[in-house]
Amino acid sequence: MELTDSGLLKAQAHVGGTWVDADDGSRFAVRDPASGAELARVARLSATETMRAIDAADGALAKLARLGAAGRAALLTRLASELERHAEDLARIMTAEQGKPLPESRAEVAYGRAFFEWFAGEAPRIYGRVVPPPSDDKRVLVLRQPVGVGAAITPWNFPSAMIARKLAPALAAGCPMVLKPAEATPLSALTLAELASRAGAPDGAFNVVTTDADGADAVGRALCASPVVRKLSFTGSTAVGKLLAGRCASTVKRVSLELGGNAPFLVFDDADLEAAVEGALIAKFRNCGQTCVSANRFLIQAGIYDAFRDRLRGRMETLQLGPGDRDGTDLGPLIDGQGLAKVERLLDDAREHGADVLLGGARVDAQTTFYPPTLVEGVTPQMEIFREEIFGPIVTLTRFDDEAEAIALANDPRAGLCAYYYSRDLGRGFRVSEALEYGMVGVNTGLISNAAAPFGGVKESGLGREGGAEGIEDWVETKYVCFGDCHPTG
Ligand code: SIN
Repeated sequence: MELTDSGLLKAQAHVGGTWVDADDGSRFAVRDPASGAELARVARLSATETMRAIDAADGALAKLARLGAAGRAALLTRLASELERHAEDLARIMTAEQGKPLPESRAEVAYGRAFFEWFAGEAPRIYGRVVPPPSDDKRVLVLRQPVGVGAAITPWNFPSAMIARKLAPALAAGCPMVLKPAEATPLSALTLAELASRAGAPDGAFNVVTTDADGADAVGRALCASPVVRKLSFTGSTAVGKLLAGRCASTVKRVSLELGGNAPFLVFDDADLEAAVEGALIAKFRNCGQTCVSANRFLIQAGIYDAFRDRLRGRMETLQLGPGDRDGTDLGPLIDGQGLAKVERLLDDAREHGADVLLGGARVDAQTTFYPPTLVEGVTPQMEIFREEIFGPIVTLTRFDDEAEAIALANDPRAGLCAYYYSRDLGRGFRVSEALEYGMVGVNTGLISNAAAPFGGVKESGLGREGGAEGIEDWVETKYVCFGDCHPTG
C-alpha cells in the first residue's frame, strides 16, 4: 500500500495512549477482499487487555472534563483537520481493507470528518435548564453530564465513518471510549486513533481493542459486563444487537443500537422516472449494496413498472465490477465468503419460489467474492429475499397497484431503518412519509446520510439516534438538582 505518511498504518492496538501488542503476542491477518493478499498482521487482544483499556478510559474521564466544552470542541476541530490533511491515505487504507471503490472511500472519509466538525459545534451547546420551581423555597436545576465511559462495536462496511459517528459525540460530551472495530477492517480504526493522538486527545480518551472473529466474543462480553462502561453503542446486525442488549442488562447499561434494515424503495406512477432510476442506483449499489440503508425491496407501481425496470436494467449493465483502486470501478467485491454465501442463498430461494433473474445472478468466479449487479422480478413477500437484508448488489422488483398496498408491503418486515420513495405528489409526500414505519425516509433521493441528520431506526432496526442535534443525547445523562431553603428575601 503506497501512503504519503506511512506512520498512519498501525498493527498494534491502542490502549491508554500507547501502542500495544496482545499479552500473548498473538496477531491476526487483515486481507484485501479483492485479491486475498495479506495487508497486515494486527494485535489480537483478549478480555484481559480489554479490561486495561476500560481502566484507561476511566482515567481519561477527568482529563476530558478538565478540557471543558471549548477544549473538547477544539480537539474535535483539530481531529477534523487531521482527517482532511490525510484524506487520501485514509481512503487508500480503507479501500485496501474493505474493497469499496476509491471515490467511495474518499466520500466516507469526508462523511466521517463531518461528524467531528458537527459535534465540535455541539460540544458547547449541551445546555441544562433552570426550571420554575413548584414552591418558592425550592430551586430546580437540570444538569447534563457525560454518561461516562463508552464502549463501541463497529462494522466493516463503513470502517471509519461509523466510528466517527460515535466517537465525535462521545468526546464532545466528555465520554472516553473503548472501541472494538470489525475484525475485517481494523486498520482504518487504528489510523483514527493515531490521528486522535496527533490532534491532542488525552491518553485513554480513545482506545482501540483489536481482535479477530474468534476473540470478538470475549472482548464483547468484557465490554458488556464491566460496570465501569456506562454505555454501549453498536452498529451491526439485528441478531448481534439483541445479544449485546441482553448482555448489557446485567449492568443496566445504556444501549444504542443501529441495526439491520430492509429498506423499501417505492416508485409511484407520477415519479420522475430518470430521477428514480438514478436514486435507485445510489440507494442500491453504494458499497456494493453492503449498507444498512441499501434499498432492499423495489416496490414499483404498475403504470411505471416496465419503464422503470427497463431503464434501470440499462443503467445496471454499464456498472463496472473490479478492485476498488482501479479507475472506473463502480462495484468492489463482497466483503467475504459468508457475505457471498448469503447473497447466493437468498437468490436460490427466490428462484425456487418463482422469481425471474433478468440480469447477473451468478458469482464472477470461484476464487473471489465479486458478484455482478443482479436484477430479479416477480419477488413476493413470501420469499426470503423480501424478508431479509440482502447486503449485496441485487435489485428485487415487486409490482403494486395503489398507495395502500404499497404501504402495507413496505411496512411488512420487522425492520424499520430507512425507506425511500419517488413521487411528485405533495399530498402523497406527507401521507406516505407519515405512514412508513421507518426511522428515516428519503423522498425523491437515494442518499440520505449526513452528519446533520438523526440517523437511526425503529422496530427491530435499533434504539437511539446518531448524528444531528439528537446524536449528543445518547452520550449525556440528565441530573436533577433540587435546592431547598431558597425563600426569597423580604
Ligand atoms: C450503515 O450501513 O450502517 C450506515 C450507512 C450510512 O451511514 O449511510
